[in-house]
Amino acid sequence: MDYSKLKIPNHVAIILDGNGRWAKERGMSRSAGHKAGFDNLVELSKHVFKTGVKTLSVYAFSTENFKRSKEEVSFLMNLFKSKFKEYAVELKKENIKVVFSGGRYRPVSDTLLKIIDECEEMTKDCTGGILNICFNYGSHLEIVEAFKRIHKDINDGKISEDDINEDMIYHYMFQDLDPVDFMIRTSGELRLSNFMLYQVSYAEFYFPKTYFPDFNNDEFDKALVEYTKRDRRFGAIDYSK
Ligand code: FPP
Repeated sequence: MDYSKLKIPNHVAIILDGNGRWAKERGMSRSAGHKAGFDNLVELSKHVFKTGVKTLSVYAFSTENFKRSKEEVSFLMNLFKSKFKEYAVELKKENIKVVFSGGRYRPVSDTLLKIIDECEEMTKDCTGGILNICFNYGSHLEIVEAFKRIHKDINDGKISEDDINEDMIYHYMFQDLDPVDFMIRTSGELRLSNFMLYQVSYAEFYFPKTYFPDFNNDEFDKALVEYTKRDRRFGAIDYSK
């Protein structure tokens, strides 16, 4: 693929959906589907940065996902415990900084919180791109917490009401990242499920039917071809056309 002929989004966000259905179709357990999803995610993220994308956000686990069966939540927590580090090590080799967005408190275990801190610390000086792992993440939670921090900073005299504007709100999100340019949700579902609602205001959306474990590098390249065809006007009109 000649990437110089494509428009490359600065910030891509992916909702990793369809692990369960992928496994069911193969007569496998949902857990096997999540494991396959993880293996795919490691390869895919390395590829995404190689195409020139600067920031990649992935929805690994939502605040609402804790409502799943005890068995599934426990499998996923163990998967994260054993794999976050491995994932960060792989990304560090590519000079990618790993950050996490989401509530850093219970029900997330202390062990996992410590691993999250270690992954961030280990990759903090990497300059080739940013991988934002959204874990115990919900967009409403993120916005509520931003409101609280803004309120506190006003009370503490650090900022005044006049300092509040659309850009500064990004500084109060879990991570201070650029707006999302391209939002992908695999598996054919047409929902955002509380993912990055503030950041996607002018994003292009792409909903491939492919289940996440099969959403490989070629599928991502197809997505880039689709993104290249989109005419992004950000509310304006191009009178030259
Ligand atoms: C949604 O598929 C997927 C999840 C809730 C988990 C996503 C997690 C991974 C891909 C592993 C990531 C691992 C790391 C270390 C970041 P689903 O279970 O809702 O699938 P279904 O809709 O087909 O049931």
